[in-house]
Amino acid sequence: MKIVVLAGGLSPERNVSLSSGSKVCQALRDRGHQVALVDLFFGLEDWSGSEEELYSAPIPEKFKRVARQAPDLNQVRASRKDQGPSAIGRGVLELCAHADVVYLALHGTCGEDGRIQAALDLLGVPYTGSGCLGSAIAMDKDLTKRLVADRVTTPSWRTVTVTKENIGALVEETCLPVVVKPIASGSSIGVYIAHDREELEKALYDSLKLGGRTVLEQYIQGREIQVAVLDGKALPSIEIIPKEGFYDYENKYQPGAAEEICPAHIPEEWEKKVGEAALAVFQTIGLAVYARADFIVTEDGTPYFLEINTLPGMTPTSLVPQEAAAVGIDYPSLCEIIIQRSLE
Ligand code: DAL
Ligand code: MG
Repeated sequence: MKIVVLAGGLSPERNVSLSSGSKVCQALRDRGHQVALVDLFFGLEDWSGSEEELYSAPIPEKFKRVARQAPDLNQVRASRKDQGPSAIGRGVLELCAHADVVYLALHGTCGEDGRIQAALDLLGVPYTGSGCLGSAIAMDKDLTKRLVADRVTTPSWRTVTVTKENIGALVEETCLPVVVKPIASGSSIGVYIAHDREELEKALYDSLKLGGRTVLEQYIQGREIQVAVLDGKALPSIEIIPKEGFYDYENKYQPGAAEEICPAHIPEEWEKKVGEAALAVFQTIGLAVYARADFIVTEDGTPYFLEINTLPGMTPTSLVPQEAAAVGIDYPSLCEIIIQRSLE
């Protein structure tokens, strides 16, 4: 099969995506597919060969770097030669139009939020994962929680637009501890657990950098359990126990920084409830093929839904591949199943 793997782009999760993309590309090539690995932001700018050669070109070093830290997006933007206003090179879409399928190894803005999905729909090119509407909804933490709140338990929350002027009032009126989250980000970028007023103030100032639209969510004490949905079923859940702090960006992508137990050592009843909750969210917002839902499970076994990821990480430390492995699906087979289901 002729496959274009799109990765990178210009979201804060760019480096995570480059890492997902290179691993997916290698796995699909190992299975004998022709695979072109393309950075959504740079397009074909740094490629001088023919289109056919791109399908067997060595994976560039920049894709192989471990996603230990988020990129400086201004620097990335500045290093694009044409400096054009469009983040998506026309060449990328032309290339996609010649493929049998586009594998989306993107995360975050312009990759996971329905925009690239809509562009590919217009081109008539199949792509992996959910369609544009479900992707757009899932990217918005406030909208997702509103839509699923009558089917699953989710921590109470309010969504605010933070400005320099209202930070003082927000700090005064918010109950602590509280989780501060940008409304549409991923990999815990910009997420803080604020235990006191000082931490809350710092987190709110930081949220200004990511646009200011912020979810202030009740902090729930419990175990961090994540469940992937694949092929209409929940995979075995995974429990995450970071060695320090919470499951933030560093703990997600630094190998060994968090203990990941799959299947999670939880009672059967909890496993059933968390799997049902993941499926309920998946169905309610109209997702397709695969996704990963994140929960905190309290000591009485109640799963509190936090969010669902429509293009979950496929990096060497990511969780969906581990959940698939627990039912005997290895990494290349997982990529092929995702493609096959997306084409149905
Ligand atoms: N947003 C990251 C990639 C994840 O959910 O795995
Ligand atoms: Mg996420």
